[in-house]
Amino acid sequence: MSDSQTIAVEVIGIEQVTPLIKHFRLAPLHGQSLPGFSGGSHIIVVMHGPERIHRNPYSLLSSPHQLDTYDIGVRRMEDSRGGSHFMHDSVKVGSRLEIAHPVNLFALDKIARKHVLIAGGIGITPFLAQLEDLHRGNVPYELHYSVRSPEHAAFVDRLRRGEGEKLHMYHDSEGQLVPFETLLATQPLGTHVYVCGPAGMINHVIATARSHGWPDSHIHWEQFSAPPVGAAFEVFLSRANISVHVPPTQSLLESIESAGVEVPYLCRGGVCGFCRTRVLEVDGELVHNDHFLSEADKAGGRFIMPCVSRAHGRRLVLEL
Ligand code: FES
Repeated sequence: MSDSQTIAVEVIGIEQVTPLIKHFRLAPLHGQSLPGFSGGSHIIVVMHGPERIHRNPYSLLSSPHQLDTYDIGVRRMEDSRGGSHFMHDSVKVGSRLEIAHPVNLFALDKIARKHVLIAGGIGITPFLAQLEDLHRGNVPYELHYSVRSPEHAAFVDRLRRGEGEKLHMYHDSEGQLVPFETLLATQPLGTHVYVCGPAGMINHVIATARSHGWPDSHIHWEQFSAPPVGAAFEVFLSRANISVHVPPTQSLLESIESAGVEVPYLCRGGVCGFCRTRVLEVDGELVHNDHFLSEADKAGGRFIMPCVSRAHGRRLVLEL
């Protein structure tokens, strides 16, 4: 994927839905329909900031059956490198943005006999579009949605209206916890579980499901990592024959792109594997932040996911 494949959109609505989350409605600039997608898809939003370009993944939360606009929810991240702050502070109704075509890395399994959806905080967004798909089928499902406190429950009116008794809400502030053990111990054969939220919740759901004998093929999760900041370093791109400086607040992928070298990507969050790049040499150590490479691959040091990972040391040589 590259910026030549982006779609120009205009922001036609913004709503503050919780103290930390804003809901943006995007319409195509030239009035045509937007590309089709299925529940669980995300888009990359390209933001031209004053000093640099941000490209962040956001789940589509609008209905896949209504393609005149796309809706996304953006949580203001305290440790943001700029993308979520740009969306919250600089993007207004009437602002123009570019978006990439939707990609689904978190799709509902078509042959599941039941779906159990578990969301934490902003992790509710991919489920909102999936629910629109589920309303049209006859596969049973239930949604478990955990938030810090009632004021942090985004889109809850829509959920109460659409889901009724299928919605189970949990407020940390009132000591309400998702009963992971009983929930995952008592599901009928053929059930698939989907989780999106903080890393601790995802890891707990995966571990609990496995401990109850769920096959990995029935456990689905999505967690886009934001590229963490780190010390600056130099990268040499062997095919392009250029050196690129990677500053502390720019990802390795962003720095390579700024130098005019394209790297394939889909998620920009360490999940899809598309940006996997061969490491030819490292003077220092690789800092792997992705969810794609196996522990053995990470230890082997032959590959890096430049969308979220970086190097700690003086120099890195990549086959690019
Ligand atoms: S772009 Fe998906 S893992 Fe890097």
